Amino acid sequence: MSRDKEFTYSGLKHGGRIKAAAAKYGIPEDDWLDLSTGLNPNGWNVPNVPSSIWQTLPEDNDGLQTAACEYYGCDYCLPISGSQAAIQILPGLRSFSKVGVISPTYAEHEYNWKQAGHDVVQLSLMDVENKINELDVLVVINPNNPTGEIVSVEKLLNWHQQLSTKGGWLIVDEAFMDVTPENSLLSAGIKPGLIILRSLGKFFGLAGVRCGFIITDKELLQRMSDKLGPWSLTGPTRYIAKQALQDKQWHKKTIHYLRHSSERLYNVLTENYLEPNGGTTLFQWVKHPNAKEIFEAFAKQGILIRYFEGSVSSNKQKTLQSLRFGLPANEEQWLRLNDALMMLSNLIKTTNKDNENDLSYV
Ligand SMILES: Cc1ncc(COP(=O)(O)O)c(C=O)c1O
Repeated sequence: MSRDKEFTYSGLKHGGRIKAAAAKYGIPEDDWLDLSTGLNPNGWNVPNVPSSIWQTLPEDNDGLQTAACEYYGCDYCLPISGSQAAIQILPGLRSFSKVGVISPTYAEHEYNWKQAGHDVVQLSLMDVENKINELDVLVVINPNNPTGEIVSVEKLLNWHQQLSTKGGWLIVDEAFMDVTPENSLLSAGIKPGLIILRSLGKFFGLAGVRCGFIITDKELLQRMSDKLGPWSLTGPTRYIAKQALQDKQWHKKTIHYLRHSSERLYNVLTENYLEPNGGTTLFQWVKHPNAKEIFEAFAKQGILIRYFEGSVSSNKQKTLQSLRFGLPANEEQWLRLNDALMMLSNLIKTTNKDNENDLSYV
């Protein structure tokens, strides 16, 4: 089939598009080292799925919600096909609203609220206190992707209180929270107007399974569930997700592994003149005036990292350029990253002053 017959999502671009990179740089897919996503490169091992699961319609009462409630420590939750599904549906469940999104961040939130006709403003964390009175909805990605910033539970609860008294929502996207459960708002319990999103894509490394959870009050969960209709997750997804959520030994081992790997990534980048400006256990984020050139130079070596560009809020003429590095999966990949960093050291060390980032931005 020719390429122009394949329909694709025409909205935002994300990491992990190895097929597109292979075509653009003329390097076969299998030769790429993909560090462009923030997914655990050694994710939960997927078992064989029994034929009966493939061949029957999925049922809601298969124990998935109970397993998720136990893992997340909540009384109820709704499984969805990736937290992305909730990001797309939530804006359609509110009348016209003024929505604040902490930026820079995962751009799908802003995109979907705008697409649904709402008025969206980008805010820095420092802006929130002054602007919260004007908002109906506030979206916080905690920890943030790509900056890694974390907002305290106390501060979030204060913002939720201010929004919910006027029927507003606080949406907290905790896609990258699994390794630091102590920072999760789940500890505060379920409250009307507080919406928490979780994902099985990142910590579990099961991005292809398409499973996430929305945790909020019963009434809103029911509205979401009715909107999604029957069988919104496939049977194999439910089967795999339930087992992954129940595998406590793996959770413990993986928290340890990811903490160690992220420290190693931080050190490798720092030793090679790319000291991170932020990050989580699954990625490191580096602002750099030559970010675009560095991204290109990595790509020419078959290493895909993530490049971000955005205008600096205090000065629209200036551009903030940054890079995000995911975790290598094994020693061979660590070596490849290290070699590439050493090979590009001149480009990394030379900073073009005209292109200097405004470090006060975030
Ligand atoms: C912050 C954040 N939230 C949500 C998502 C969507 O993840 P998924 O739909 O796989 O749960 C992503 C994907 O990259 C993300 O970075």
